[in-house]
Amino acid sequence: MSPTEFERVFSAPQTPESSPTPGAPPGSGVPGPAEVLLLVERVSKHFGAIVALHEVTLWARRGEITAIVGDNGAGKSTLIKCISGLHSPSSGRLFFEGKEVHFASPQEARQAGIETVYQNLAMIEDLTVWQNLFLNRERVKRLGPLAILDRRTMRREALRMLRQFEVHLPSIHARLRQLSGGQRQAIAIARAASWGSRLLIMDEPTAALGVRETRRVEELILRLRDQGLAILLISHNFEQVLRLSQQVWVMRSGRVVGGRRTNETTSDELVAMITGVKSDE
Ligand SMILES: Nc1ncnc2c1ncn2[C@@H]1O[C@H](COP(=O)(O)OP(=O)(O)O)[C@@H](O)[C@H]1O
Ligand SMILES: [Mg+2]
Repeated sequence: MSPTEFERVFSAPQTPESSPTPGAPPGSGVPGPAEVLLLVERVSKHFGAIVALHEVTLWARRGEITAIVGDNGAGKSTLIKCISGLHSPSSGRLFFEGKEVHFASPQEARQAGIETVYQNLAMIEDLTVWQNLFLNRERVKRLGPLAILDRRTMRREALRMLRQFEVHLPSIHARLRQLSGGQRQAIAIARAASWGSRLLIMDEPTAALGVRETRRVEELILRLRDQGLAILLISHNFEQVLRLSQQVWVMRSGRVVGGRRTNETTSDELVAMITGVKSDE
């Protein structure tokens, strides 16, 4: 695959039918190829007879928070699993940084710079903060013929990671089970944002949190964006989407039914697109 194939998608004439932003006025808000970090092109995913995704086309720009909204069962989680290498699409293509990519596993997506924070956090309650930050990425040092865990380096790096993202915790030696839901979420996000990732995907990162903790996690997400990370955010919370994102895509029944620049839409319009009921009817 060549970058020209990627550019073709963005240089095609924009008619309402061919527009890569179905539902958006032709030509409006369509980025140039250099702005696009991730492009999902006509991706479908079938589970037996179930069509979870049907020809989904959307993109995420560099340096932005891109939101995906939609009712339960709309296909949001399936889509991010296709992007993050957990599922392979039944058809369609993914482009990342201008090149077509095929991820056979989450490890491959991670190596390319795509990290995902899932709804269930994949951390271990009985381990400490720093141990969770380095879970499956443990640092080792050589001691003669032996490879031993380099705890000192990991603890030092853990402090640096938390400081960089301004995550405040009582101690990196606290066990996860002693921490609140918001603190755990912040650790999961800090972990995913480290390791040179370019795109951070979050599936409902504040769904289980109270108001104050939600605000804290939102501030963390904004800081990451300001540090240059692109973020793909799945959220049920329209107010949150309007507060945080620059672009929003609406999914319904496995399809993208619209895309908007966030500053050009409202929660009423998003609700209308999600339910398929026009607000002026
Ligand atoms: N592994 C799977 N096997 C079969 N059907 C699935 C699987 N994962 C998701 N689905 C179906 O795909 C559709 C989209 O689900 P999902 O992506 O979880 O939606 P959302 O995250 O928007 O709530 C649903 O109908 C769901 O039941
Ligand atoms: Mg989901």
